Amino acid sequence: MSLPIKVKINGAMREATIEPRLLLVHFIRETLGLTGTHIGCDTTNCGACTVLLNGKAVKSCTVLAAQADGGEVMTVEGLAQNGKLHPIQEGFWEKHGLQCGFCTPGMMMTTYALLKKNPNPSEEDIRWAISGNLCRCTGYVNIVKAVQYAAEKMQS
Ligand code: FES
Ligand code: FES
Repeated sequence: MSLPIKVKINGAMREATIEPRLLLVHFIRETLGLTGTHIGCDTTNCGACTVLLNGKAVKSCTVLAAQADGGEVMTVEGLAQNGKLHPIQEGFWEKHGLQCGFCTPGMMMTTYALLKKNPNPSEEDIRWAISGNLCRCTGYVNIVKAVQYAAEKMQS
């Protein structure tokens, strides 16, 4: 069985015919070719696949592509505008918030959702927000600093 869907991704409307069991993360990576969204575990554990679905951060390995039909998705590719890094991307760059970088796209999308809701988060708020995003190569200190940098920049 195939299912036609329409999804707005990073501001552009995309249409595709998919199998109903296709996961959103595979739709994003394989059907649309947006490989910035990573797969770390496939079990809702690591958060590497985090994207925004209708403004909410979701782990796209646990959402069916069909559930995004008629909706809006934002991936890490949607952060930079006109060749200019988003303050969140700048924060990870400036504060060395990554080592291997595999977790970074998911971290950044979680950060985006956090700062939309809470533009001035405390360190505790940040740590709580990113608790569903695992990074195995840093101690989170610089990731927290990156989020704080972005929060300040976005408010100025
Ligand atoms: S790949 Fe989705 S949470 Fe790990
Ligand atoms: S920077 Fe390597 S897992 Fe996060």
